[in-house]
Amino acid sequence: MGKILVTGGCGYIGSHTIVDLLTNGYDVISVDNNSRSNPVILKGAEVITGKKIKNYKVDLCNYDDTFAIFQENEDISGIIHFAAFKAVGESVATPLLYFENNLSSLVNLLKCVQEFHIPHFVFSSSCTVYGNPDIIPVTETTLPKPAESPYGYTKQMGEQIIVEFARSSATNCILLRYFNPAGAHPSGIIGEMPLGKPQNLVPAITQTGIGRLPKMMVFGTDYPTRDGSCVRDYIHVSDIADAHTLSLKYLEEGMNMGRCEVFNLGTGEGITVLEAIHAFEKVSGVKLNYELGPRRPGDVVAIYANNDKARSILGWKPKYSLEDIMATAWNWELRLKADETVFNSQAGELN
Ligand code: WQD
Repeated sequence: MGKILVTGGCGYIGSHTIVDLLTNGYDVISVDNNSRSNPVILKGAEVITGKKIKNYKVDLCNYDDTFAIFQENEDISGIIHFAAFKAVGESVATPLLYFENNLSSLVNLLKCVQEFHIPHFVFSSSCTVYGNPDIIPVTETTLPKPAESPYGYTKQMGEQIIVEFARSSATNCILLRYFNPAGAHPSGIIGEMPLGKPQNLVPAITQTGIGRLPKMMVFGTDYPTRDGSCVRDYIHVSDIADAHTLSLKYLEEGMNMGRCEVFNLGTGEGITVLEAIHAFEKVSGVKLNYELGPRRPGDVVAIYANNDKARSILGWKPKYSLEDIMATAWNWELRLKADETVFNSQAGELN
């Protein structure tokens, strides 16, 4: 097992994946310019694993700086690429920022993969590539529809860039399509740290629950679903992390059939927004202050995964339930409040 380079290692999924990799015996380095992440999270990952984690504070949009990392680390045997902007609403407001950041960084990284003959490459993709599916659950062969946002297009284009790169190189690639990552590490030492007002449902719930937000809005209750609110597949971030380690092992064992394979990472169960809120209330004992409001533009009505392929080929088995997601997310929010001197001082510099 060589050294794994994790881009976006100070981010939510990146930090949880680093914990999983280190726990499984990998040697890891992180590359993260901390433009959207909090470096304090890596300290938490070090506490959990008892291992030091080096982060290169480098912008992957700078080719020379990225190249220098590979020159300094000749033993990189795999890359997991998380680093990207991911706010749907922001991408609509500033599309060029998203295309430049998310795609230039990917191309620079792949040029280094080519130059240094890195054998394994795992890409952080998203169910957003499916758009608004006609049939659910979606499988990996469900034809993608037009994306709902520039962010979604950067994931669709990113996948295409990697597919074509894999065809022309000796590198074996995996595209992991996350559904809705949520929750926090069971230890409560790392978790999601949204910058500013959370866009995603679960942090919006927990920040409302603890009083950081006065109330939250349910975006639409007139959808053609069982209770009128949107349906998503909420998957625990530690299950997502586990799938990355399994993907590397799969590639290292040479089990892959093709140069570039795709896997859905979801539980296979669709949950409505209102059901998620009620699950939080049940787990936390907190009555959530929410209002039923209008639809949010760009929202997909309903999507959840068929995860048979990841189960059968990667041996992936999601361990955490919706209740576990809410319990770990709430535990993390409580910890943030208890330690706000530590976290806010760091997070404050970034806000
Ligand atoms: C889920 C549901 C909202 C907040 C996006 C990206 C996806 C991934 C996750 C990056 C929707 C509703 C939300 C709130 C609400 N991005 N909601 N009130 O939009 O499914 O997915 O984020 O990794 O690629 O597309 O996630 O959590 O924003 O929304 O009612 O305050 O919760 O309308 O129906 P989404 P989300």
